[in-house]
Amino acid sequence: MAPADPNRVYIFDTTLRDGEQAPGFALNVEEKVEIAHQLARLGVDVIEAGFPISSPGDFAACQRIAREVGTLDGAPVITALARAVPKDIDAVWEAIRDAPRNQIHIVLSVSDIHIEKKGLGTRQQVLEKGVAAIEYARQFCDHVEYSPEDAGRADRAYLYETVEAMIEAGATVINVPDTTGYTLPHEFGGMIGDLMRHVRNVGNAIVSVHCHNDLGLAVANSLAAIDNGARRVECTINGIGERAGNASLEELVMILRTREKLLGLHTGVNTRLLAPTSQLVQARTGMHVQANKAIVGANAFAHASGIHQDGVLKDKLTYEIMTPEEVGVADTRIVLSPRSGRHAFRHRLQELGYELADDAFARAWEAFLVLADKKKEVTDRDLQALVADEARTVPERFTLELVQVACGTSGRPSATVRLHDGERPDRVLEDAAVGDGPVDAVCNAIARLVDMPTVLVDFTVRAVTGGLDAMGEASVRVRHEGRIFSGHGADTDIIVASAKAYCSALNKVAAERPAVSVPAGSGV
Ligand code: KIV
Ligand code: ZN
Repeated sequence: MAPADPNRVYIFDTTLRDGEQAPGFALNVEEKVEIAHQLARLGVDVIEAGFPISSPGDFAACQRIAREVGTLDGAPVITALARAVPKDIDAVWEAIRDAPRNQIHIVLSVSDIHIEKKGLGTRQQVLEKGVAAIEYARQFCDHVEYSPEDAGRADRAYLYETVEAMIEAGATVINVPDTTGYTLPHEFGGMIGDLMRHVRNVGNAIVSVHCHNDLGLAVANSLAAIDNGARRVECTINGIGERAGNASLEELVMILRTREKLLGLHTGVNTRLLAPTSQLVQARTGMHVQANKAIVGANAFAHASGIHQDGVLKDKLTYEIMTPEEVGVADTRIVLSPRSGRHAFRHRLQELGYELADDAFARAWEAFLVLADKKKEVTDRDLQALVADEARTVPERFTLELVQVACGTSGRPSATVRLHDGERPDRVLEDAAVGDGPVDAVCNAIARLVDMPTVLVDFTVRAVTGGLDAMGEASVRVRHEGRIFSGHGADTDIIVASAKAYCSALNKVAAERPAVSVPAGSGV
């Protein structure tokens, strides 16, 4: 079945599945649901919610996304991944069946190197296994996607034979993955063009592609495939994913929009939500994009050289091929003051793509008033950092009441910290510690108060906007019992931002360990 609109490129977002497979990632169920809501607002056509058989948490996230996002008006299709075996397919179906528009996604190798090294038998046996899996899945669901894994390195004739057999068996989408990011644009485009020409029944399926970025070619390869007739692309926000990642959603969407006259193609994405979505994914994963990242990097619209600045002042079009507004890049002018009032604050957040629940909104408003008091100019970018901080996805057991540090050129940095324990409000938790630096001292003091052995695996801090009164945004990732938990904090004081980020990661640990104890003697 060819796509309904031949000039539309359908966007399949796999941030929550392939993106989440990136090393060191750990989104909790609430965070996945939050991101899925944002993807739906962004206007993607398909959300791959996860790989349900891989863990109970992933299953729960897929099920909640199907029920809470998949049932909204105009919701995207909800899909999830299965290997070509009944138990995986059963798990996917159980997880996504409550979404009115759903699809089962099956993956099975097609390259000889995969077939041999994974001990999958002969090519014929793999083919039969794929056919059986599709027939099994079609008993439940009218929409089944088949991905011949490592197609980029497969024998072409066998790939096309596989595609034909899977469509014959009932696959409604054929997704061609360049799993290892090995192919070159003209090669991958040629492969898709040949597939369109040589596979007899290709008109009965949607042709999709899924490109990895090992050689930095994921977006170029996806574009070459589109040029050769593919009308669905699998991609992720910020290009996150296995190893070097997947094709970046924001780049693909903006290429199609910016060069629409030449390409004659479009997507259904609301491009003004690209930057806020990127910010949300960065905050929740703790994985920040580089400043020169196309579309959503901090410098993507910054003109530094005098010649460029002069040109832009005369006419933006001299050096800009798209506007920051088009992609929702935060405005750096003053946007709000406390006098603007709650209504204007909520309205601006909505314009920036945020729909906060009442309690999160109340916290964000309070935080805004505090920030506006400290900072002369509150920008959209400040608001984004503040919302990422306040729209928390787990109940906050521990909140930071006081941070005091002593550091400088002599002596070891020391910190005093006071926490409020929501489960034991009668006790005040206060302790002090030294560390290699002030942030280390703060984290050590917090760790002494909270009996949850964690290892800090990653810590970043960055200024949200320019200027001496800039907000600092801190992200941490901690390991607890083999799992990674991320935390985010924002404040005009980077030590406080770091302490908040550490607390938010520990709150996520606490949310999954209901009976966390507080060490004896640490209460004051
Ligand atoms: O890279 C890959 O081959 C995949 C498939 C599941 C599509 O992620
Ligand atoms: Zn992949």
